[in-house]
Amino acid sequence: MSEKLHLMDHPLIKHKVSLIRDKNTGVKEFREMIGEIATLMCYEATRDLPLKEVEIETPVAMAKTYVISGKKLAIVPILRAGLGMVDGMLSLIPAAKVGHLGMYRDPDTLEPVEYYCKMPADITEREVIIVDPMLATGGSACDAIARIKEFGPKNIKLMCIIGAPEGVKAVKDAHPDIDIYLATLDEKLNDHGYIVPGLGDAGDRIFGTK
Ligand code: PRP
Ligand code: URA
Repeated sequence: MSEKLHLMDHPLIKHKVSLIRDKNTGVKEFREMIGEIATLMCYEATRDLPLKEVEIETPVAMAKTYVISGKKLAIVPILRAGLGMVDGMLSLIPAAKVGHLGMYRDPDTLEPVEYYCKMPADITEREVIIVDPMLATGGSACDAIARIKEFGPKNIKLMCIIGAPEGVKAVKDAHPDIDIYLATLDEKLNDHGYIVPGLGDAGDRIFGTK
């Protein structure tokens, strides 16, 4: 099987990840950076979109050129923190539909608990990109992928900004068919299931709730 983990090496992504890690970065800048990183990662995650050749008349001559060949996409943020990545994705793929999957991590067990799920009606015709800034134990991502598979989309990709090795392993073990896009792979999880060094609680930092 080809490698399913795609790590970003673009300098702009690395720079912006440093900014969101900084505990002194305020909510406005944090939110903006999450959106900008999502846009840059969307560029990488859509690299394999199929093209078809078309002929277009320029002011000078006929040109053989390319357009995306009708691939339909859906973005599915895992609430809450995934919401921070949606607008950045839509800035590149404005016709994408958006599903929502609400999950929170029980603070004691670290197990994900689903509280909301609404997918586009035509999801079976679409490729889904799940977005969530953090891949920690991988519990939320694994459950989200399993839940979305129930709807029968054409394909699923997972896009997170910071990942822990434990989370990557969990997703690879449970869903070996899924491509994972990560801006950066961190060292480990701490005893509370937080990514080290990470950036803290992504939802709280995006929405200013702490
Ligand atoms: C965070 C994060 C992921 C999850 C990752 O959400 O946005 O969804 O934790 O952890 P895991 O890989 O161990 O499952 P959280 O549960 O804090 O909810 P929130 O986005 O509402 O703050
Ligand atoms: N969720 C977060 O928001 N941050 C972590 O480090 C782990 C899970």
